[in-house]
Amino acid sequence: MQDRPVSSSKRGKPFVRFRGVKKSFGTKEIYSGLDLDIHRGETMTIMGASGSGKSVLLKMLIGLLKPDQGSVDFDGADVAQMNERELLQVRARIAYLFQGAALFDSMSVGDNVAYGLRERFWRTMSSTQIAARVEQSLGLVGLPGIQAMRPSDLSGGMKKRVALARTLALRPEVILYDEPTTGLDPINTARINHLIMGIKRATHVTSIVVTHDMGTAFGVSDRLAMIAKGKILLVAPRLEFRETTNQYVRDFIEGRAPESEAVRDLLSS
Ligand SMILES: Nc1ncnc2c1ncn2[C@@H]1O[C@H](COP(=O)(O)OP(=O)(O)OP(=O)(O)O)[C@@H](O)[C@H]1O
Ligand SMILES: [Mg+2]
Repeated sequence: MQDRPVSSSKRGKPFVRFRGVKKSFGTKEIYSGLDLDIHRGETMTIMGASGSGKSVLLKMLIGLLKPDQGSVDFDGADVAQMNERELLQVRARIAYLFQGAALFDSMSVGDNVAYGLRERFWRTMSSTQIAARVEQSLGLVGLPGIQAMRPSDLSGGMKKRVALARTLALRPEVILYDEPTTGLDPINTARINHLIMGIKRATHVTSIVVTHDMGTAFGVSDRLAMIAKGKILLVAPRLEFRETTNQYVRDFIEGRAPESEAVRDLLSS
C-alpha cells in the first residue's frame, strides 16, 4: 500500500523519509527495503512483532545505526551520510525516549530533568533559565514542583513522566517514543496517552510512537504503520488502519499474532 499524507498533499516534502532501507545484523536481515514517510506535526505509530526492527528504525533516524543501503532523510538531508558533527545537530532536534528510559537514581528529579539542558546549553542558558525550563517541563507532564524528590520515591508511572519531562525540556521538533507505556497499569497507560496527545497539541511536535498497546496506538496516532518481513506491510490513517482487511494486521490488532518473528519462523520451519 502506498504511503501518503494524513490529510492533504499540500504539506510539501515529508519531514522524515525512509527509502529503500536495507539492514542486516550478520546473517539476520531486519529490513529488506523499507519505505516510509512521516510528515511534520503528525503522530505516526509503528507496530510490529517483537524483534521486527522497530527500535532499529528509530535508531537509524538519529544515526545510532546506519542502514546497509538506502536513505534516511530528516528535513531533506540523509542522516545515513552524515558525520558525527552533523549527527549531533540532528540529535538536538530529535529526542529519543528510550525503551525503558531510566532516570539517574543518584540525582534529584530536578537535576534529572536539567541534565540534558546543562550538557547542551551550558553556554547559552543561565541556571535561572534552566530552572524555569525544568519547572515548565514538569508542569507539562502533570508533575509540577517535584524537583526535590528522588527517583526512588516515584512510582513507575511517575518515572516515565519525569523521563518525558527530561525529553520535553530540550524542546525537540521530533519525539521518538519507544514503548512509552510498557509495564504500566491501565490508568497510567491512559495518562501517558493523554500526555502524548496533549504535548502534540501544545507543541506541534512530530511524534513517532512504537507500541504494542492498542489503546496507545489507536488513541494517539494520526497514522499507523505495520512492519512485517522487513518492510512496511501497511501504512494508513487511524480509522482505515483499524478497519483493514489485511489478515496479518487484523491478527496483530486482535492479539492473534505470534509474539515474536523468531517464534513464527520456528513454527513455520
Ligand atoms: N546493535 C545490534 N547488533 C546486533 N543485532 C541487533 C542490534 N540491534 C538490534 N539487533 C537485532 O535486530 C532485531 C530487531 O531489533 P529491535 O530492537 O529493533 O526489535 P523491536 O522490534 O524493537 O523489538 P521489541 O518489540 O522486542 O522491542 C533483533 O533481532 C535484535 O536482536
Ligand atoms: Mg524495541
